[in-house]
Amino acid sequence: MSEAALKRDGANDPYAIPLADIDVSDPARFRDFTLWPYFERLRKEDPVHWCANGMFGPYWSVTKYKDIMQVETSHNIFSSDTELGGITIEDGNAKLGLPMFIAMDPPKHDEQRKTVSPIVSPENLAKLESTIRARVGMILDDLPVNETFNWVERVSIELTTQMLATLFDFPWEDRRKLTRWSDVATATPGSGIIDSYEQKMAEVMECGAYFTRLWNERVNAEPGNDLISMMAHSDAMRHMSPEEFLGNLLLLIVGGNDTTRNSITGGLLALNEFPDQYRKLRENPALISSMVPEIIRWQTPLAHMRRTAKMDTVLGGKTIRAGDKVVMWYVSGNRDEEAIERPNEFIIDRARPRQHLSFGFGIHRCVGNRLGEMQLRIVWEEILKRWPDQPIEVMGEPKRVYSCFVKGYESLPVRIRA
Ligand code: HEM
Repeated sequence: MSEAALKRDGANDPYAIPLADIDVSDPARFRDFTLWPYFERLRKEDPVHWCANGMFGPYWSVTKYKDIMQVETSHNIFSSDTELGGITIEDGNAKLGLPMFIAMDPPKHDEQRKTVSPIVSPENLAKLESTIRARVGMILDDLPVNETFNWVERVSIELTTQMLATLFDFPWEDRRKLTRWSDVATATPGSGIIDSYEQKMAEVMECGAYFTRLWNERVNAEPGNDLISMMAHSDAMRHMSPEEFLGNLLLLIVGGNDTTRNSITGGLLALNEFPDQYRKLRENPALISSMVPEIIRWQTPLAHMRRTAKMDTVLGGKTIRAGDKVVMWYVSGNRDEEAIERPNEFIIDRARPRQHLSFGFGIHRCVGNRLGEMQLRIVWEEILKRWPDQPIEVMGEPKRVYSCFVKGYESLPVRIRA
């Protein structure tokens, strides 16, 4: 039975409510993992769907692959600009209200993106690979055996945090601050992470003060190979306002943190849900290269990106008005049977595994996509080296994050047998 069908129980029947009342933005659906049948109904009956009373205000849901691609490639019509609302369903980028290039339109977006991109050039990734491999190795060698532990805490968070600290050349002993700031930046009050927007802003300001100190040290030193130094010494970014500096920093922290972290966890969970695929992988580790993009499709760690229409336009036969909020549900497009064969199955040797929406598309397509893929590849190469004959077993249900933006995990109990 498909995952979607499994979730369609009485209390969670998307056909029990009128189509117009469906609001897929409710974070509880993501936490309780009851989202699939709602997206399935929207894809079938109303792929460009108007929700007048959404939890975050009125908005359009775009749920099919081809319509999402149309929005992504029409940046002259659909804006990412913070001033108009930004890139999350919650106005102002989860109420962060800071300028960052993911939430800018050309030409400024293009200039700032160009400045940051070299950090993830193929040459730089090659330089980073041995450092990441060594760190993954240490984390895995330190894991307990014959004992249930939280994979999210011990592996996914620790690894991505170490990675970020490397990219920023961030003080090693303080690296967990990066994890905290990333969680805070995308959190909604009530999620268990923050209690109020005031608390959120206070912690974000603390992050800003810390990084300003690092910036001041590096702007007066020789240019280095870390992101802060690159920003401080670039013509396009050197003269940023403090808000812009902080916004772009948070973009890189969140971009490189939640996404990779939740894909590391999601991959292990998927392999446990599809044990035949785990077996196939152990028999043929060369499949890691096609499994990695499949993990990223399957997990879709960022469930959506939002745009705001700058002019009246037509999408999927619906008239979108200037000023309307348009949400591209990558999580749904990645399960669109018209674009992806057997989309509700996790298949590690798909013919075209990179055909997915998890990295977005068009001018904002993820800058760090090759870095994210590389981290996942190394994690699985090192896991299979250590445990070639046995699976790492999931021992219970994962606890999922209360968010319709970051689709991820708070915990996943696992065990490694001796
Ligand atoms: C943009 C996903 C890893 C940095 C994005 C977007 C998505 C995304 C969906 C927006 C695309 C759009 O609007 O069309 C992911 C996923 C990752 C990942 C699924 C890992 C599995 C990373 C990493 C970094 C990073 C490791 C950091 C180095 C960025 C930046 C942008 C971005 C800076 C803004 C690009 C722009 O606006 O031009 N990412 N990301 N991401 N990502 Fe990633």
